[in-house]
Amino acid sequence: MKADNNCIVIFGASGDLTHRKLIPALYDLYKIGRLSENFSVLGVSRTELDDTQFRQKMREALIKHEKSSGEMLEKFCEHLYYQALNTSDALDYGKLVPRLDELHDKYHTGGNTLYYLSTPPSLYPIIPECLAAHGLNTEEFGWKRIIVEKPFGYDMKTAKELDVQIHRFFEEHQIYRIDHYLGKETVQNLLVLRFSNGLFEPLWNRNFIDYVEITGAESIGVEDRGGYYDGSGAMRDMFQNHLLQVLAMVAMEPPAIINADSMRDEVAKVLHCLHPLSDDDLKNNLVLGQYAQGNIEGEEVKGYLQEKGVPADSNTETFMAVRCQIDNWRWAGVPFYVRTGKRLPVRVTEVVIHFKTTPHPVFSQNAPDNKLIIRIQPDEGISMRFGLKKPGAGFESKEVSMDFRYADLASPSLLTAYERLLLDAMKGDATLFARTDAVHACWKFVQPILDYKAANGRVYEYESGTWGPSEADRLIAKHGKVWRKPSGLMKKKV
Ligand code: BG6
Repeated sequence: MKADNNCIVIFGASGDLTHRKLIPALYDLYKIGRLSENFSVLGVSRTELDDTQFRQKMREALIKHEKSSGEMLEKFCEHLYYQALNTSDALDYGKLVPRLDELHDKYHTGGNTLYYLSTPPSLYPIIPECLAAHGLNTEEFGWKRIIVEKPFGYDMKTAKELDVQIHRFFEEHQIYRIDHYLGKETVQNLLVLRFSNGLFEPLWNRNFIDYVEITGAESIGVEDRGGYYDGSGAMRDMFQNHLLQVLAMVAMEPPAIINADSMRDEVAKVLHCLHPLSDDDLKNNLVLGQYAQGNIEGEEVKGYLQEKGVPADSNTETFMAVRCQIDNWRWAGVPFYVRTGKRLPVRVTEVVIHFKTTPHPVFSQNAPDNKLIIRIQPDEGISMRFGLKKPGAGFESKEVSMDFRYADLASPSLLTAYERLLLDAMKGDATLFARTDAVHACWKFVQPILDYKAANGRVYEYESGTWGPSEADRLIAKHGKVWRKPSGLMKKKV
């Protein structure tokens, strides 16, 4: 289905996200015919540019993305416009009114407008108010939707304040909080795997599952985002949003039907069931780390404290591992071990469901436990691991696997996370966007961890290219488990 005719207003148009992700995603949608010819993009930021200069910048970004140019790319660029304005001055927003009127007329959009906040978070409370000062939030003529990038607040208090402020000018049905992990094909596939197969769901509970591992590992460091990252850390950057959303997909109850409300009801419900972690729990079940220099795939890399924009005495965590529990009938007693970090040996996001072993070992040699590995990225796929007999005399067992690689299914027009989510927002489908109650449930769970860290959280150093501080191994070993040490590709023997 095509998006409605509409105008997309990107605040923060001179920023990194716009040329790296948003414009390429819109272009790819355009190329495969998912945007009607009647769309336009109005880039907005403080930088003084005109339409031609903005188009030229975006053209360069697209050529880099496409590794080629061509007629299609030129046609797409004709839909791009630019308006410089002082984004914190309500009066200046008056400039948007004639620009938007002109674009709505030219592209027959009926007034449909999608605002994308791709700015520093300090502007999130300001932009909605400034738009409202000129009536640009009302749905009298066409829909008005606003996409907000993470972080949705800095902690529980600021998240609530931000919510109140945005709700003063936009209603919940107009607000789309983007978490790009929800746009990933394999994260959605988790739902299909669970809820469209009779095989897995009966086993998907405390009776059969021993523990769950969720890993979000990156081999890159903070790159040129040291300034932002140092105020955020792994907890706010990855755990509070992306990984808790993945956890919710693993643990939620089946919705009665797939639509925005019933899906998001179940997500919020399970996030509310996360067992609050006390200081005592955290003493035993939380490990924070910060990368020191090291070697990744043969390349020497510097430590976090040497990164640009990072204070020399920073105590920000670039790694965290935590043992969580979910207080409900399905999951009582099943630990969820979640870890994320930068400068780990490989980039891999995966969920591992470890099933319980047999009640009584019949063979002298213990069979390996049964695992279901859901690889979210890269090399998306699913691998079922179980024990079978080693050929030959005796009954020794070895782990074998049944593997499915997503690439075998994917058509070339598979949408990336930003493409999928932008298209959904243009179609008014909020299923894969975070609802305010779920965001608050995440903060409610994370706030005690932040407080604990502020009061007494130690941040251990780990060498770049390793799986984090050894304390993280001890955290899980105390309970008789080990972290999986995945390689980057499933097809390689892991
Ligand atoms: C972003 C974080 O939200 O997600 C980054 O700010 C992180 O620090 C990125 O690198 C990871 O996303 P992906 O899609 O590459 O796993």
